[in-house]
Amino acid sequence: MTAGPIPLEDELGDVLEKALRRSGFSDEEVAARSGVTVGKIRDAIDYRYDLDAAEVRRLAGALKLNEVGLGALREGRYPLPEITGLPFCVWPLRMRHGVGVSNAYLVGECGGSEALLFDVGSSFELLAREWPAHVKSLGGVFLTHAEPEHAGGLREVMGHFGRVPVFAPVGSGVAGALSMQEGRPQSFGRMAVTSYDTPGHVEAHSCYLVASGAAPRGAPLFVAGDLLFAGSVGGAYHCRHELARQLERMLEVIPAAAVVAPGHGPMTTLAHERRFNPFCI
Ligand SMILES: [Fe+2]
Repeated sequence: MTAGPIPLEDELGDVLEKALRRSGFSDEEVAARSGVTVGKIRDAIDYRYDLDAAEVRRLAGALKLNEVGLGALREGRYPLPEITGLPFCVWPLRMRHGVGVSNAYLVGECGGSEALLFDVGSSFELLAREWPAHVKSLGGVFLTHAEPEHAGGLREVMGHFGRVPVFAPVGSGVAGALSMQEGRPQSFGRMAVTSYDTPGHVEAHSCYLVASGAAPRGAPLFVAGDLLFAGSVGGAYHCRHELARQLERMLEVIPAAAVVAPGHGPMTTLAHERRFNPFCI
């Protein structure tokens, strides 16, 4: 992957399309509620933007979206926070998959030779290209969900690293994987990992909160999978109501100081997404 700013997973058109589906309204109903023509709404969903700031504000109102964040997306200036305060190191492993990019994350003590791996990407070959050389072993592998772009490389990872405990959401069908009890922290070396069941994008989906046992006051890491992205949310392929409910629950349960490591797009913080994310309102 090339260096440089990491693009958001979704732009304005994607966010409007997801918000429309979430609302359950037809295009015509949103047009009537917002005073924006159906043609302009459909054009925006097709990435042909002809919406002024006032129209985007009215769409935000009709679709119950955060208008500051939606306006920032319209201007191509969605803000991203500085990532600070983690008492351990996080290595995002960004891998191309089809037309998109998916993220896996290694988490461990800075400079340590062992780390925890969250998602594995679609192949070990892609993962290995991004792998920090000093990480030689894994204390655990944690899958957010079993889609190929996030879990497809699991067998190769296991072949490379040998016997490593693998955790996956209940019902995900990952052979040999263990499941974690929701909300109960489990220790892996000096790290504590807590799993949350967060169906919506798919039925079997987990998010993970990672904290340091050595520095419990440091910011935790929230591995969000395809529940929450910087500036957007995952597609609700299983259930839009469930995804909205789980997002709302995570915004309450997870500390605002948490750094968010999403399955796609750049890292962010929960406090920042609460302030700007169109779907966090
Ligand atoms: Fe994904």
